[in-house]
Amino acid sequence: MYKDSIVLLEGAIDEIKLKLDLIRKNKIIKNERDPISYITSRIKTEESMKQKLMRKNIPINLDNALNKVYDAAGIRIICSYVDDVFEMANILKQYDDMEVIKEKDYIKNPKSNGYRSYHLILKVPVNIERNVKKVYVEVQIRTIAMDFWASLEHEMKYKKNIKSQEMIVNELKRCADESATMDIDMMSIRKMIDEYD
Ligand code: GTP
Ligand code: MG
Repeated sequence: MYKDSIVLLEGAIDEIKLKLDLIRKNKIIKNERDPISYITSRIKTEESMKQKLMRKNIPINLDNALNKVYDAAGIRIICSYVDDVFEMANILKQYDDMEVIKEKDYIKNPKSNGYRSYHLILKVPVNIERNVKKVYVEVQIRTIAMDFWASLEHEMKYKKNIKSQEMIVNELKRCADESATMDIDMMSIRKMIDEYD
């Protein structure tokens, strides 16, 4: 469906990665901590794009895949500390060449299952030959702990008949809340250590 647009989607991801790379290099030159632990990215598979369009009752075609849903291109920024997550979100929101289309703070307002993350949908210009195309990119910014939790919680999506579903859901919620507390505690400890040189 969108095979021919892979270059465009990858181009948009690369644009953001380049910006992130410069931010990191600049921090390191200034002797500041690198706010990013690691970055992952993906282009949504055709199959999962088709399923998403069907789920949302949107006709399956290239234009809709690129413009009616915003996560054909996705990038995940994993930070060590919660304050780094907000700093990265604020930095990304300030570029003149990228438009913020949507913003969701699931850290301030966690989902009922315990999911935490900061989501941005950005519209990124990609230059190919003499054309400029605007491409949506879903950016998820979260801590290592939030990412660890989300990958465990995601495991459940593929399992249809889990027997102790309710217990697992409750346990996941408990882990999400405990690890959110730990995230804050670790940040506070880091800040105390930061006071000394
Ligand atoms: P989508 O149609 O799934 O894109 O939902 P949405 O438009 O409401 O977007 P939202 O920002 O809520 O979620 C987008 C993405 O965030 C998902 O595709 C997941 O990658 C991630 N995400 C959101 N909620 C959860 C969750 O409860 N658990 C996990 N593991 N990931 C989540
Ligand atoms: Mg999605």
